[in-house]
Amino acid sequence: MRLDVVTIFPEYLEPLNVSLVGKARARGVLDVHVHDLREWTYDRHNTVDDTPYGGGPGMVMKTEPWGEALDTSLADGYEAGAHSPVLVVPTPSGRPFTQELAVELSTEPWLLFTPARYEGIDRRVIDEYATRLRVVEVSIGDYVLAGGEAAVLVITEAVARLLPGVLGNAESHRDDSFAPGAMANLLEGPVFTKPPEWRGRAIPDVLLSGHHGKIARWRRDQAFARTALNRPDLIERCEASAFDKKDREILSILGFAPEPGGRFWRRPTAVEE
Ligand SMILES: C[S@@+](CC[C@H](N)C(=O)[O-])C[C@H]1O[C@@H](n2cnc3c(N)ncnc32)[C@H](O)[C@@H]1O
Repeated sequence: MRLDVVTIFPEYLEPLNVSLVGKARARGVLDVHVHDLREWTYDRHNTVDDTPYGGGPGMVMKTEPWGEALDTSLADGYEAGAHSPVLVVPTPSGRPFTQELAVELSTEPWLLFTPARYEGIDRRVIDEYATRLRVVEVSIGDYVLAGGEAAVLVITEAVARLLPGVLGNAESHRDDSFAPGAMANLLEGPVFTKPPEWRGRAIPDVLLSGHHGKIARWRRDQAFARTALNRPDLIERCEASAFDKKDREILSILGFAPEPGGRFWRRPTAVEE
């Protein structure tokens, strides 16, 4: 996968050389190109922003440097044989970044990121490239950062660990929170490692039983308990067909009941129970 990032703070992307993403780069799984937007400014102050039309506080990033930076990055990529770029635009007003979107982006051959600063980029830039490329505007959460670079790091790490050959154990992300499949929409439960006792705290017996069926059931029950506590909305979004008999029992204990529509909802009294 090719990644291009255009930013006024290339040094902010240094973590892309570290750990899992760094290793993926070293192995050639990820081909990362970080570009300094100011290379496409021609005045003494390397200006990338200007006052907003219509007035108001803050500054807006200018069309010209972004246009030239994106044209050059795209031309570089095409020349190197990359194809089908997706423009990933970090913005608090974008679609929420989820594991599902990470999976979707991990199948793309080329992602081009536009982390902004100030009040964001002049809208015409996004509209212009949307006529030629798939554009995905992405928010990493309901809060406002000073810039999009941290969002690029978040998205890149979530996407990179899904690429074939990046995680040592290809099964590692199978049971992750939000992973598609049997645990869809459930948060992962607690995990344990050696020693078997620490400060008087033992690990649950079932994990030592060697009984794969019982361990899988226990993990699923724990996932339900944690999801009910921290993200009951995830359970409420599940199709009831996703739940087996045991799931329904644990859901009932956790205060959920089926509605005529088929989904499980938390009984209003359950929170106080
Ligand atoms: C100060 S913010 C601009 C906020 C903008 N005025 C608004 O309210 O939508 C500057 C830049 O940081 C990035 N950013 C801030 N919060 C973000 C979030 N939650 N998700 C993704 N990117 C974010 C975007 O690139 C954004 O253009």
